Amino acid sequence: MPCKNKFYVTTPIYYVNAKPHIGTLYSTLIADVIARWNKIKGKKVFFLTGTDEHGQKIEEKAKLENMAPQDFVDSMIPSFKSMWQRFDLDYDHFIRTTDRKHVEAVNTLLIKLIEKGDIYKSEYIGLYCVPCETFVTAESAHRDAASNLMCPTCVRALREVSEESYFFRLSAYEEQLLKFYDENPNFISPKERINEVVSFVKSGLKDLSISRKTVKWGIPFPGDPEHTVYVWGDALTNYISAVGYGDGAASDKISFDYWWPADVQVMAKDIVRFHAVYWPAFLMAADLPLPKQLLVHGYIMFEDSKMSKSKGNVVDPALLAEHYGVDQTRYYLMRHMAVNQDGSFSYDQMEKQVEADLANNLGNLLSRIVSLAIANGLTHVSPVEQLEGKTALLKDKCEEAFRAYWDEMNHHHYHVAIANLWTFISEVNAYVHAQQPWKLAKENPELFAEVVSAVCHSLYAIGVLAWPIMPKKMEELLSCLGVAFDYRGHHYMDELRANKWNMTFNLKKNETPLFPRPEPMPMAPGQQELEKQSEDKLVEEYISIEDFAKVELIVGTIIECEPMPKSDKLLRMQVDFGNKIGIRQVLSGIAQHFGPKDLIGKQGVYVGNLAPRKMMGTTSQGMMLFAEDESGVLAMAMVAGKVANGTRLR
Ligand code: MSP
Repeated sequence: MPCKNKFYVTTPIYYVNAKPHIGTLYSTLIADVIARWNKIKGKKVFFLTGTDEHGQKIEEKAKLENMAPQDFVDSMIPSFKSMWQRFDLDYDHFIRTTDRKHVEAVNTLLIKLIEKGDIYKSEYIGLYCVPCETFVTAESAHRDAASNLMCPTCVRALREVSEESYFFRLSAYEEQLLKFYDENPNFISPKERINEVVSFVKSGLKDLSISRKTVKWGIPFPGDPEHTVYVWGDALTNYISAVGYGDGAASDKISFDYWWPADVQVMAKDIVRFHAVYWPAFLMAADLPLPKQLLVHGYIMFEDSKMSKSKGNVVDPALLAEHYGVDQTRYYLMRHMAVNQDGSFSYDQMEKQVEADLANNLGNLLSRIVSLAIANGLTHVSPVEQLEGKTALLKDKCEEAFRAYWDEMNHHHYHVAIANLWTFISEVNAYVHAQQPWKLAKENPELFAEVVSAVCHSLYAIGVLAWPIMPKKMEELLSCLGVAFDYRGHHYMDELRANKWNMTFNLKKNETPLFPRPEPMPMAPGQQELEKQSEDKLVEEYISIEDFAKVELIVGTIIECEPMPKSDKLLRMQVDFGNKIGIRQVLSGIAQHFGPKDLIGKQGVYVGNLAPRKMMGTTSQGMMLFAEDESGVLAMAMVAGKVANGTRLR
């Protein structure tokens, strides 16, 4: 039964070829904040996250680790689950695309599309980017200095792939999609993002290749196990398989009808097209309702540059939790980042924000008022009958703060909601300052009790409203007021909206400050290690210019290339090194990365004076150079611009 009171929120499912990092934490945190916000609004919430485990990238990574793909993906799961638990990301289900139920759901969906006539077999020829698992059109490809076509997203070499493939009739859904966007202006938040989606669809949709013969690590295509389901057909389906789609069991059908469609699907801008075009088209084809909203957030950078292991600037969330605290990190990410924009992470900024907003503004307010009240024998705080003057004004501000927070949170403007709430905290501090309760305690006990009560009511509202952002810390704050927070069966929002200030509080001092002042982060251990390594290298691994001059790096063009018989790794190439050197035979163990078609005609860089080496009885007279990234993807070393074969690099 569709139910108005339910709320279903999802995160992207993350590739398991990398451990969770601050970027994936950020998406999952946003979804957790949304889930918690809806819980305190009284909704029944289902929060889904998980992992995307099939595909060529994972297959290659597993190979690199010398593991079977299933063992490799299994080995990566604990790092995700434990990180999410560490950050109190309270998901209801963790889906893995290798789960049996998911595999069944993908089958059910595809069979439905086949029966509808929306899937057909044809030949796919295209440029494919392995790291991004995306086909790229020649028009959108980036060209390097040597005019090679590169992936526009990651600027790595594209491979031409031609194979038999099943296609989904995406082109048939163009009009229906445009009509849907038009009728649902809130489908994407922030709204501006819809424009790029609409213009993509208007530029003409091509049918989508949804199977691969070359990728073994995937879900077998229904009725044709020589093919596996290509990544997006598999991955996107997780959102419905997790809530029971495709499961014959009656109980799961009830579950599916109850939870689907999702209310909010969270993701960063990199995967909007897949979610705003392919996903709705799949659902339309399967006669299923479409998600109500996609929430698209920006990217987290490190002090304005992209995080990468080689730069040593990857921020490890575990380290942040350890050093600053879980809720402090949650606060910083939600307060500092504007959801609709890219933002940069900085330790220095984080320390300043935690100190100013949490330790000083909020933490001090709580400890000051609770200590002062208890020191003056006021542990049981009662509501005030008749509010006047400054206290009445503060009460009005509390109501305004609630309304503003409510609006901004519901529009996913988290940083604005938090900033407004913290303005209210400053106002409560200003009220305390103006009332001088430390004087009133002796001079005017009645007004003293009023001030304490007013501050407690304000802190109560703050504690409840900030709970989705900092659950543990706000529960701790509320427990200092004698409130045992539990969103189940409690109408916190109705209560705060009514703003009656009719509560009683039993004050309790916190043993330690709620938010200790943050110590500066020494240096991230990872970074320390990297710096040490590079220092060591400087000392131990210098080579002289004479040493370097011994290596003959020369440019050559591959004129012939073929797989080495009886080897699944080696390619045998004939490389033209110009008139002086002539043509040489070079063997290279790259057959699993490149085919002859990718290489013939390419000009690359070779070590020309390595001693000839025999491999499988054949001599190699040179070594071809490649750049290999962390996921094992290779790109050929080249010079920028065409030069004469045989040219030496210096
Ligand atoms: N597996 C696909 C998604 C399939 S969803 C059906 C995928 N996985 S991913 O591991 O690459 O995750 C991409 C998502 O991780 C982004 O959309 C975003 O939600 C999050 N982020 C990864 N790096 C990020 C930042 N640096 N900053 C913010 N979010 C980032 O794509």
